[in-house]
Amino acid sequence: MEGVPKNIPIKKEIDPLINHAPKRKDILSKDEKIVALKNALRYFPSTQHKELALDFLAELKEFGRIYMHRFRPDYEMFARAINDYPGKSLQAKAIMLMIQNNLDPAVAQHPHELITYGGNGSVFQNWIQYRLTMKYLAEMTDEQTLVMYSGHPMGLFPSHKNAPRVVVSNGMMIPNYSKPDDWEKFNAMGVTQFGQMTAGSYMYIGPQGIVHGTTITVLNAIRRIEKKTGNNGRKLFLTAGLGGMSGAQPKAGNIAGVITVCAEINSKAVETRHQQGWVDEIIQDLDALCARILKAKAENEVVSIAFLGNIVDVWEKFDSENIFVDLGSDQTSLHNPWAGGYYPVGLTLEEANEMMAVDAEKFKELVQESLRRHSNSINKHTKKGTYFFDYGNAFLLEASRAGAAVMAENNIDFKYPSYIQDILGPLCFDFGFGPFRWVCASGNPDDLKKTDEIACLVLEEMIKNSPSEIQEQMADNIKWIKGAQENKLVVGSQARILYADAEGRMLIADAFNKAIAKGEIGEIILGRDHHDVSGTDSPYRETSNIYDGSKFTADMAIQNVIGDSFRGATWVSIHNGGGVGWGEVINGGFGMLLDGTLEAEKNLKMMLHWDVNNGVARRNWARNENAVFAIKRAMEAEPLLKVTLANEVDQAVLNGLNI
Ligand SMILES: NC(=O)c1ccc[n+]([C@@H]2O[C@H](COP(=O)([O-])OP(=O)(O)OC[C@H]3O[C@@H](n4cnc5c(N)ncnc54)[C@H](O)[C@@H]3O)[C@@H](O)[C@H]2O)c1
Repeated sequence: MEGVPKNIPIKKEIDPLINHAPKRKDILSKDEKIVALKNALRYFPSTQHKELALDFLAELKEFGRIYMHRFRPDYEMFARAINDYPGKSLQAKAIMLMIQNNLDPAVAQHPHELITYGGNGSVFQNWIQYRLTMKYLAEMTDEQTLVMYSGHPMGLFPSHKNAPRVVVSNGMMIPNYSKPDDWEKFNAMGVTQFGQMTAGSYMYIGPQGIVHGTTITVLNAIRRIEKKTGNNGRKLFLTAGLGGMSGAQPKAGNIAGVITVCAEINSKAVETRHQQGWVDEIIQDLDALCARILKAKAENEVVSIAFLGNIVDVWEKFDSENIFVDLGSDQTSLHNPWAGGYYPVGLTLEEANEMMAVDAEKFKELVQESLRRHSNSINKHTKKGTYFFDYGNAFLLEASRAGAAVMAENNIDFKYPSYIQDILGPLCFDFGFGPFRWVCASGNPDDLKKTDEIACLVLEEMIKNSPSEIQEQMADNIKWIKGAQENKLVVGSQARILYADAEGRMLIADAFNKAIAKGEIGEIILGRDHHDVSGTDSPYRETSNIYDGSKFTADMAIQNVIGDSFRGATWVSIHNGGGVGWGEVINGGFGMLLDGTLEAEKNLKMMLHWDVNNGVARRNWARNENAVFAIKRAMEAEPLLKVTLANEVDQAVLNGLNI
């Protein structure tokens, strides 16, 4: 409630026990630094400017950004129960809960720099924006909408009860100013931020959010390999990254029943995931790692191993030792290659962190050299039969830009598919299946258990009449929700992710709303990852299985957010960047509070229907076979839905043309 404090709080020392963002590069000219300082100081009365100017300049020099560390509140940061928040609007309280969850040190990657995941996925640019936003939310009514410009609360504007309580935009740039260095510059100046997907939209629920998608991906990759090779033995999965989202990989590997080796260079990230039980063992020595793999193979174990070191060393060692990798991928943060997303082989973490700040050019050279070595080694493995896929972290994109041998013969496509092209696109997104999620606003684990049971019953009812085309997906999702409690996936708020299609999302949400009305559970906050059917236009990731040329357009993501906002979403957000990087993607999402009312029931049906079928319609228009099937089914179920269908062209007509 305090907002900007009357008196300047005492300075806060940097806590060495917390994982901090790397120093950002010194990119601003002298004049731009002055603008950055003026921008930061405009939140405070002029009497405080002299003292704060010195402090903020020191931060700019030390971190490359002005985080306003001294304004970080002294209270513990975590999601409280919804009724513990002050305020006049239950919806606004739900948003406060989600914001605090995104900044909870147990959840966030660099909590003191307000970064939730992905190295640069910010909730706010600085602590004063956090304070002001929380104050606005605590004061607002259901007749107002809070407008958020890249972390900055522009203010409360009159609206109406069924309008979104908050509208967020993050990193929206004039397209020509959307290169990686533009982010460095304008973020350092304090006028924009990289919201990632669920950081700047307050919808991050810890690595669980991604475990389900990763499990589906690994499971189906294994099914592909088995179908192709007939080998049903224990598989080895080699990948990298134990950070915000990549930390889900070993857990997913265990659920999918493989031996997972996940290289991670940062010991803090390794320890965090090990303590949380997301990875079984830690090994630092390459020979010991090889011996452990051979033992696991011989004894047919399912085990996940964190290798503390560089991924390139592991690929090369497994090649020289002839350890066969069945499945390979990578989840280093290559959407952010020059500022700590990817650590080049040969440097320690500390050496790399220093070099990227003091000699950015040299660092870039080393990253590119490392990517070439990395790719060469992967190529050697794939020649032996490894199935490698790009995990949507811009690995192939950055490797190709570094001149690595990752291009297909036509020199247009990559040599390896993205996980969307081969797996998630055709099997999930085209049918409307995506990462639906919910948070129990009471914070009560019993509520989560009850919602798991409700969702499971809904899916079990649905599968009885589901067409054969989606039986496997339905069965995988039922298996997931049945094992969810046992898999202990909760970090932070009492949240659950469950892949579901439009019908499933609507039926589950409706069942929750009815249970709330009956007093069986408390309020529920619905949402989803932006990485979904309709939420994201990203040519090398979510929309990489769109082949009609429209994958470089962003109409779908923009339409989606606009459509959600007038169909009852509690908050909406639209972002540039997220996943694959600044300028490479436009993505959006929503949050919706279910409070058991009839109005919530009307909203959930209208909004979830659009939120999924928008993307299915677009995928159908791109002639994706499974989406054509799904949208026809949706039209049969809802007579008010009328979607334009594409006519197929006979190849013979085209063959006859002199092009
Ligand atoms: N496709 C998906 O569904 C999906 C899901 C999650 C993440 N992603 C993408 O994957 C990337 C990772 O996401 P995150 O949230 O985990 O990011 P993160 O920055 O939290 O984690 C990446 C980790 O990789 C480690 N790392 C970097 N270079 C390394 C190297 N050479 N060897 C070993 N470890 C190295 C870093 O220390 C870091 O901990 C992002 O680009 C994200 O967009 C995609």
